[in-house]
Amino acid sequence: MKGPTATEDTATDDRADGDTRRGSETGSGVPPRRNEGAAAPGSDPERASLPPGPDGVPVLGTLPRFVRDPFAFYDRLFEYGDVVSYDFGIWNNVALFHPADVERVLVDDADGFRKSHVQRRSGVDFLENGLLLAEGEEWREQRTQLRPLFYREKIKAFADAMVEEARLLVDSWDDGEVIDLQATYSTLAMRVLGRTLFGVDVNEGEGYEVIRAAAASVQERADAGSVTAFLPDWVPTPTNRRFARDTAAFRAYVDDLVRRRRGTDPAEADDLLTLLVGLGEGDALSDEAVRDQLMTFLFAGHETTSLALAYGTHALARHPAVAERVHGEVTDVGDDDGGRAAPLDATALRDLDLTDRVVKETLRRYPPAYVLFREPAADVVVGGYRIPAGTNVSLPVWRLHADPRWWDDPEAFDPSRWIEEDPDRPEYAYLPFGGGPRHCIGMRFASLELRATLAVVFGAVDVEPVTDGEPSFEAAATLQPSEPLRVRVSKR
Ligand code: HEM
Repeated sequence: MKGPTATEDTATDDRADGDTRRGSETGSGVPPRRNEGAAAPGSDPERASLPPGPDGVPVLGTLPRFVRDPFAFYDRLFEYGDVVSYDFGIWNNVALFHPADVERVLVDDADGFRKSHVQRRSGVDFLENGLLLAEGEEWREQRTQLRPLFYREKIKAFADAMVEEARLLVDSWDDGEVIDLQATYSTLAMRVLGRTLFGVDVNEGEGYEVIRAAAASVQERADAGSVTAFLPDWVPTPTNRRFARDTAAFRAYVDDLVRRRRGTDPAEADDLLTLLVGLGEGDALSDEAVRDQLMTFLFAGHETTSLALAYGTHALARHPAVAERVHGEVTDVGDDDGGRAAPLDATALRDLDLTDRVVKETLRRYPPAYVLFREPAADVVVGGYRIPAGTNVSLPVWRLHADPRWWDDPEAFDPSRWIEEDPDRPEYAYLPFGGGPRHCIGMRFASLELRATLAVVFGAVDVEPVTDGEPSFEAAATLQPSEPLRVRVSKR
């Protein structure tokens, strides 16, 4: 089984929005791994050697170097080859830089690798019970139950809400206003999720504040770059106390929503909450299970989407010729009513080829989920080296997306690279939504929202960078810009 479109979704889906999978893998021109151990695939791990890697200091290993600059640290690991080991004191890690090995972990041998303890221990109880971190049979059952909520037809029905929210946002801007993209899109993504997931207008009443505070606290708690992530959640740090308070309020809020929604005819509602509540006739999800999943979607879908929107808008602001063509493409769709973007429904959005390529390139250059983690349940051989059970295996997505072996001029933001597929590029050189059975279930939702929002924004305003130059990054749970990304907008 290959990437996302070859999974369950294809049954109902002829053209998956956001499908970024490529055709066949490892064409003959693909360079081999830069380092490869002597052990054959499937051979006895005991006889294989451990991968090479940098030495660390006593007790903490390479952790101090990682904490100082995680990106430079990974760049240095990359110099050791495609399979590299490093330790953070008692924790052993291996980084995989070759797409074939990434595919092995995520796809071919997916059952042999679970989510890593790095995620589980920085995780949060309701996240651990939700789709993102559940394991084994429990995960399989959840995925089967939730899959229909993300079928193409369901997602298409959200297009209008996405376009409408983006229009409201653009209308709220003054001519010449300077916008902080992350803050702006964080609110937008929350409003869209609130409307589609919860069926609530998140600007009304306490709802917005409760959801926003809980999402921010979960994000902060799970931030792998912070010290808090390495402490149990009962330690009364300010982060943990905030987390306990905000998530308790969120639980109470969602429990109340669920209670009120029980008894609603699912056919009458178009939000995920009602669909979740009505799931499985006779085998309905408990209130707690509904809440765990909603929180999971909020956590997995909010920050990722708003970051992609911020990076995409900033990149277009810095590439005015591409932005102008996006504007042209958007205003060409349907009627152009007085210079404003035309009616953008799901079908019109689907036809925005350049906008789609801008989305793909944004997710290549600035992948919000910039590193994925797994852990083998038993000792395995990958790339000819032994990876002992329990090792944290990191898959540095953003490094794969910038590897000159697979990408010409990888630092350049160039949507035209997506016009034609490169038959020699391995499939897993690009994986903004992960891959295999645990690829992002919200992929189509997110891709549609990215396309809809960029289309509305660039259809209606000129965007000029205020923070110029390439963004620099901070390693948190997601790929954060280290400086706010700011632009000036002028009405067209
Ligand atoms: C640009 C936006 C997004 C990006 C880049 C993104 C990325 C990812 C990635 C890379 C994974 C796989 C993680 C892994 O293998 O460890 C994932 C999983 C997941 N995502 Fe997304 N995501 C986005 C938006 C969303 C949205 C909007 C939702 C929900 C509405 C969502 C819900 C989930 C869930 C529930 C999972 C876990 C799936 C499973 O394990 O079965 N994501 N996402």
